[in-house]
Amino acid sequence: MRPLEDYNPFDPEVAENPFEYYAALREQAPVYQTPMGFFMVSTYDHCVSAIRDPGVFSSRFTAAMAGGMGGAEKLEGGELDEIPMAPTDTLLTNDPPSHTRFRKLVNKAFSPRRVEKMDDYVSTIASNLIDGFAAQSTIDAVPELAVPLPLTVIADQLGVPRSDMADFKKWSDASVAPLGGIISHDEQIECARLVLDLQKYLRARARERRENATDDLLSDMVHASVDGESSLTDAEVVSIAQQFLVAGNETSTHLIAGALMFLLRDPEQAEKVRAQPELIPNAVEEALRCETPVQGMWRVSTCDTRLGDTDIPEGSFLMLRYASANRDPAVFPDPDRFDVERPNAREHLSFGRAIHFCPGASLARKEASVAIAQMLERFPRLSVTQDNDFRHHPSMLLRGLSRLELSLQ
Ligand code: HEM
Repeated sequence: MRPLEDYNPFDPEVAENPFEYYAALREQAPVYQTPMGFFMVSTYDHCVSAIRDPGVFSSRFTAAMAGGMGGAEKLEGGELDEIPMAPTDTLLTNDPPSHTRFRKLVNKAFSPRRVEKMDDYVSTIASNLIDGFAAQSTIDAVPELAVPLPLTVIADQLGVPRSDMADFKKWSDASVAPLGGIISHDEQIECARLVLDLQKYLRARARERRENATDDLLSDMVHASVDGESSLTDAEVVSIAQQFLVAGNETSTHLIAGALMFLLRDPEQAEKVRAQPELIPNAVEEALRCETPVQGMWRVSTCDTRLGDTDIPEGSFLMLRYASANRDPAVFPDPDRFDVERPNAREHLSFGRAIHFCPGASLARKEASVAIAQMLERFPRLSVTQDNDFRHHPSMLLRGLSRLELSLQ
């Protein structure tokens, strides 16, 4: 077991292989104050307790974010010509009652019923992508499938042209890169610049929709009223669209690549799923649990409080470490084992819980299930090549494979 004094979640090597530290944290200090000051919450029960108490553990942590949607104002004067739009707390970084108003607007967008009806549509996008590389002997599944599938879906749903997708990818990378905290100052400036471009782009598209409504989420948002009262401001529409684009994109990419990796690295598990395709949804849950594309989420305490045996002063930052909770042996026996038949795989915290539960969960599950089903069906000899190190993009917040080389034939 690793000594906790060595634990630095921002160290790229630790981010790549954090699991022994998680085990040590759960056992020795489930609510651990790191040398950086914030508290790392590592057990399942403590994460759930904090999530369920948004009055004490608030999601208004925007000021803590370095870059992306929240922290460009931290950059020194003159480093950016313009400051990105003032951060508007709508969903992820908001609390009730304001959060509840915005949340009602987005709940229906990707409800389980709506996503069920998208089956043919998602399947067609996936099979067109697969047609594009089916004749090759090997592919990198990240850029060939895991990136373009969710990107195409979210671009269509928001109502922006697929031809702008290359920009979308660039912008969404720039929005998440600073959140992981493992980038240089120059990279931070470049990211803030790109986020500004994204905001301007979304604001322009939203304004077009105010003039001419079309059948898409952007139009729905600009013409929606909150509680039958005021309509959303440009900044609110941009904030929500930005979260859909970023949250709905990178994370789903990481899930698809992670699910393929976990399955194909263990031929016995892959065989089970080939023999019983009805196991695919549970295999996706197990990949969500083991990979945990969003490793954790911030909260900030609104008063002096306690979590477990630990005193938490008002104004403290807490990192609810879903990746560690997902390997808590008190909930998931033999937690490091990837098991497509695990009976309670779906109890993972990878989509959070309660009021901030991911509104895109059904869509992400659908995309990953469709991708796995089609890849296994189209390529009976599908396997991972020897040329993989299975390393992830360096980030303390998101976990996603840099590449995944597959042999198709
Ligand atoms: C595998 C894919 C995904 C993962 C792992 C994921 C994970 C999460 C997590 C953990 C949260 C809650 C954070 C908290 O505890 O505060 C969240 C919230 C959110 N997600 Fe996802 N997400 C995924 C896909 C999507 C998709 C496809 C969309 C949109 C199309 C989306 C949009 C959002 C939004 C808007 C929120 C904020 C909700 C709120 O605060 O009320 N996500 N997601």
